[in-house]
Amino acid sequence: MNQNKSLSLRSRLLLVIIIPLLVIVSIGTVALYFDSQKKSQEIFDNLLHTISQVILRDAVLRDGDLLTEQLLETLTDSLKDQIFYQVRDETNTLFVGYSNPPELPKNADIKPYQPIYYDSIYREQEVRVIFAREFISSKEIPGWVNIYVWQTRLGQRELLLELASDAFVTMLIMLLSTGLCVWFGVQYGLKPLLELQAAIRRRSADDISEIKRTVPTEVSSLLGSMNRLFSQLRKAFTEKDDFIANAAHQLRNPIAGIQSQAEAAERSKTLSSMKSRVKDVAEAAKKTSRLTQQLLSMEHISQRSIKSEFKCLDVVKLTQEVLTNFALRADNQNVSLSLDCSENQFLIQGSETFLSEAIDNLIDNALLYGCPNGGSISVSLKQKDNDVELIIKDDGQGIKPELLPNIFDRFFHDSDAKNHGSGLGLSIAKTIIELHDGVLTMVSNKQGTSLNMLIPAFKTAP
Ligand SMILES: Nc1ncnc2c1ncn2[C@@H]1O[C@H](COP(=O)(O)OP(=O)(O)OP(=O)(O)O)[C@@H](O)[C@H]1O
Ligand SMILES: [Mg+2]
Repeated sequence: MNQNKSLSLRSRLLLVIIIPLLVIVSIGTVALYFDSQKKSQEIFDNLLHTISQVILRDAVLRDGDLLTEQLLETLTDSLKDQIFYQVRDETNTLFVGYSNPPELPKNADIKPYQPIYYDSIYREQEVRVIFAREFISSKEIPGWVNIYVWQTRLGQRELLLELASDAFVTMLIMLLSTGLCVWFGVQYGLKPLLELQAAIRRRSADDISEIKRTVPTEVSSLLGSMNRLFSQLRKAFTEKDDFIANAAHQLRNPIAGIQSQAEAAERSKTLSSMKSRVKDVAEAAKKTSRLTQQLLSMEHISQRSIKSEFKCLDVVKLTQEVLTNFALRADNQNVSLSLDCSENQFLIQGSETFLSEAIDNLIDNALLYGCPNGGSISVSLKQKDNDVELIIKDDGQGIKPELLPNIFDRFFHDSDAKNHGSGLGLSIAKTIIELHDGVLTMVSNKQGTSLNMLIPAFKTAP
């Protein structure tokens, strides 16, 4: 089982919408319950107050007689709760009503005409009590009286339960219907994505053509990025195919040459002609070996992984080593090879192997095409702003101006020239320099060719 499998987009959307909705609805239901409780309490207290007034007036009217059964029944029926009452006169003598009313809270602050409401227990039942102190002017009970009216809370509880369950059912229906709407909404919203996924699945592995579909704005940028990636892949594949075709073509000629020269050597009648043909075979094999080496380098640098080999190196030392390797060849060609450094050391961050190869290719070109019949090649190294500048200049005939725009292209060479290589040297050198965050430029005219290389100097920590 894949542990890293992330939640589907549909589940995420549902979770993000439903969970907060559930929380909101739960909080809403609880809040509604407490609000209903408060409001129903207020209503019941007001009723209790009214009842206390009715009882008081009735008791006065009836000169202290108990309430009529009819009135008591009317009150009890409308409230579904039993009503009890007691009226005491100023001397605390029971005037009318039931004995032992629920006791007033100890800290009750009794003020005339200001009713006090409190909860209590009466005959093992929860009751709500109202106590009031009022002035009565009647023949039977002139003066201040204390009235208690209390009622059971069953009706109130029932009403509250009814209100709360109604609220809960309404909320539940709302939640379910919202959940359904969200579910269908998410399904509908994700449809273009699911269709796109199905369209991609139907494709074969080698089909990287553009996906043409009408999609919503949010998906169109994703589709745009995918199509851009496909187009880059198409370009990369085409370049790879071209490279392989070119490489095969370049390898075919020297190998065919080796084969024919080897066959000719076999047929040689004299030892000297055989030796000369074997020498040609060796020469062709050397060229093939160089080409194979260049193809390998090309592949290596195209993977952009050489940066992992970078370390701090001295370009002066590195250039001296490359030039030393060419000293004999330059001497044989009657070419003066000079190195001019403004300082003893120029540090950069790079790959020794690949930078040597880049400089090697440029000196090889200068010797091969710039000074085939003698001349001079000057190499100079100096600091230029934050870069190290390396210039390789020969005093040859230069390159035809019409070739210059493509001179750094892979496999590009002067096809009219008799002695040319496979056209990879400059392209490899330029890619290597660019991988060192540098630039390689060329200036060529009738006075000679100059290759200018700029590589960022190594910065020591401040
Ligand atoms: N210093 C130079 N003077 C004159 N022509 C040059 C010089 N350097 C390069 N060229 C021209 O540019 C072409 C491309 O050079 P590049 O080094 O890329 O390929 P190549 O030398 O032909 O083959 P490779 O280097 O792969 O063996 C050469 O064929 C040559 O015509
Ligand atoms: Mg070359």
